[in-house]
Amino acid sequence: MIAAVPIRRLCPLAVVLLPSLAGGCAPESDATPGETTEASTTDASGATSADASSGGADGSTTVAVPDDAPTYYADVLPVIAAQCQACHAEGGIGSFDLGDYETAKLLAPSLAAQVASRTMPPFVASNDGSCNTFADARWLSDDEIDLFARWADAGAPEGDASLPRPQPPIPEVLAGEDIVTLSSPEGYAPVADDSGGADDYQCFLVDPGVVDAARYLVGYEVVPGNPAVTHHLIGFLVDPEATTPLGGTNASLMASLDAGSPDVPGWDCYGAAGNGVLVQGTPVTWAPGGGAFNFPTGTGIRIDPGFKLVLQMHYNLAAGDGADTTAVRLSMVDAVDREAVNALDDRFLATLFNGTNITLPPGEDSYVWKWQAPIREWDSRIAGWEQVELLGLLPHMHTLGRRMQVTIHRAADDTEQCGLYVDRWDFDWQQAFMYETPIVLSPSDQLEVVCDWDTSSKDTPTSPGLGTSNEMCLLGIYAAQAQ
Ligand code: HEC
Repeated sequence: MIAAVPIRRLCPLAVVLLPSLAGGCAPESDATPGETTEASTTDASGATSADASSGGADGSTTVAVPDDAPTYYADVLPVIAAQCQACHAEGGIGSFDLGDYETAKLLAPSLAAQVASRTMPPFVASNDGSCNTFADARWLSDDEIDLFARWADAGAPEGDASLPRPQPPIPEVLAGEDIVTLSSPEGYAPVADDSGGADDYQCFLVDPGVVDAARYLVGYEVVPGNPAVTHHLIGFLVDPEATTPLGGTNASLMASLDAGSPDVPGWDCYGAAGNGVLVQGTPVTWAPGGGAFNFPTGTGIRIDPGFKLVLQMHYNLAAGDGADTTAVRLSMVDAVDREAVNALDDRFLATLFNGTNITLPPGEDSYVWKWQAPIREWDSRIAGWEQVELLGLLPHMHTLGRRMQVTIHRAADDTEQCGLYVDRWDFDWQQAFMYETPIVLSPSDQLEVVCDWDTSSKDTPTSPGLGTSNEMCLLGIYAAQAQ
């Protein structure tokens, strides 16, 4: 007897394209306790899972679906509407519409497997409470995961199609009076980067219009023009006058990057805002389904006069194509009670400049490198604060990354606390994680960052860097002076 879970795991997404394979993807009859012999025979003959309820060979009606089995319309669709349809709706980035029963039925074993492994909905930080919980977490309860499994095992019963359709969750509204709307260039048509995949990472320079005095960002909202291709967006804060490690200013470097592809707006970028561009932080991060984000009341991130934003768009052409213009709405104010800082640090990347010359050896399933620093070293403003309220974290590695763990070491009493645990890093689903309950620290408390990479696919060492063939071990923080 083969266990149910591996069967589901083997079930390919190809069933959508090749429905004839779906029979092989149906849950095995032994996965459904209490099924009649007739129904088992029907299943074993390779019929689709729905046939399990349609009767035996003699034409009599055999009820193979247990009475208490969950159904699509009554039980599963409400969870799908709340947790999946931000992406898996018609025209969304997830290539199929789970609001359609036939599609969901065909994929039922795969849905059960993806939610059981927590690959879907995509959210790479552990949110089960063992290492904090996060705002707007795309995170199913154990009961919801079990619901998908029981539904798939019962042959994906449809239930009553006349039930009222569940409404999608009401998105959070962007607070504030003064909303500045910026957008990516009109009708940019993504083209897959050279890597051979379906992804296009393109950076665009936009101006938040801060001229005479600093202003503060208190919230933002991202509205994709073409949701079928818009996978994620990171807004980097950039000082155009800053001198870059490559020499010259950010402004001149970005101008030459842009000039490198005169036919298309913006420039190719991958690890950050483009090779060599020095960034101050990532005040805006967005993935599909993210509604408006408001920073905690009274806090805001300072944007100095002349500072610009580089919008890194991650386009993915697997579910659609066509041009996109994405709008970024920034809620700005002139003053806040507590200035928040958003700063990035990566001591692995820093080894490039301090002569230590660290590389990741090839051929390792798991290679760990760690660094730590007091939180005041992320941003010099923090050293002047009595206490720091840590609002959230942004982990970042490239595609070899598999895990990242952040541990807080308290200097005063030598205790430690879990800050963030990413047990299944996925470059495609990077975002900031904002705490539901911020953590209060002293400026000298340390953040330890443990990065774990899988280099088994490589036969040469991997260096730190911003390029596709390099790796990073970056931690961004969002913090405000504690009240
Ligand atoms: C934030 C967007 C998003 C949400 C929310 C989301 N998905 Fe997905 N899903 C995707 C994308 C995009 C893909 C294509 C593969 C990828 O990029 O990871 C995908 C792929 C899948 C696949 C196919 C995996 C494969 O390649 O075999 C399944 C099954 C799936 N999702 C189920 C779900 C279920 C069930 C939910 C809700 C409980 C859900 N997804 C929520 C975006 C999303």
